[in-house]
Amino acid sequence: MPKKKSIQFDIVTIFPNVFSEYFNSTILARAQKKKLIKINILDLRKFAKKSDPHKSVDDRPYGGGPGMILMFEPIAKALKSIKRTKKARIIMTAPEGKKLTQKEAKRLSQYDQLIILCGRYEGFDSRVEELIDEKISIGKYVLAGGELPAMVITETVARHVPGVVGHDEALTEETFSKGDDYVEYPQYTRPETVKHGRKKLSVPKVLLSGDHAKIKDWRDKNKKK
Ligand SMILES: C[S@@+](CC[C@H](N)C(=O)[O-])C[C@H]1O[C@@H](n2cnc3c(N)ncnc32)[C@H](O)[C@@H]1O
Repeated sequence: MPKKKSIQFDIVTIFPNVFSEYFNSTILARAQKKKLIKINILDLRKFAKKSDPHKSVDDRPYGGGPGMILMFEPIAKALKSIKRTKKARIIMTAPEGKKLTQKEAKRLSQYDQLIILCGRYEGFDSRVEELIDEKISIGKYVLAGGELPAMVITETVARHVPGVVGHDEALTEETFSKGDDYVEYPQYTRPETVKHGRKKLSVPKVLLSGDHAKIKDWRDKNKKK
């Protein structure tokens, strides 16, 4: 029997506690229980100099300027501590990185292991780029850290592992699944009619018809606005 596809995520962060509530709830909790994904959180401070009682992982920028920079050495040590699979990819979260899209998430889901570095402060010492395979951005805005991007990357990539999303066919129908311009059709559930102020909002009749060909035709012609 072919081996079931699974992905391991190793997330390197100075805020290891922020992940547990989200990853241990939601579909990601079920995916971990079903061993479709594995998530390891590594506390970067554990890789600070042993002699440093403050467990510092950042320092001031050479040349001056605001803020602090994450140092090369703790990150190099953290990465060295992670056992790699054959198909591992090291990702740096970075606002200037390659934009995460559905297509990119699908590409990343072909790896067995994604090691994700969460930046903080003013970002990483530039030499950390020697240690990584690629930089990923979740959008053209600047967050205070890479933890939210790491969660976004983990969830959107994990959804491409067969079995993670309850109905796998949802992945082939949903928005962006057929290209960046593709938008899913409008969806309705009970009741058939709802009141909104003076308006009565009813479900399109065709969806109640039970005629699958007509429903498909309607869905092909209608997009969510
Ligand atoms: C305050 S940001 C650093 C911004 C950096 N000084 C700059 O101007 O590009 C700190 C960290 O948050 C993460 N981050 C912020 N915005 C992000 C985004 N849009 N996508 C991915 N990571 C982001 C990165 O890990 C980054 O190193």
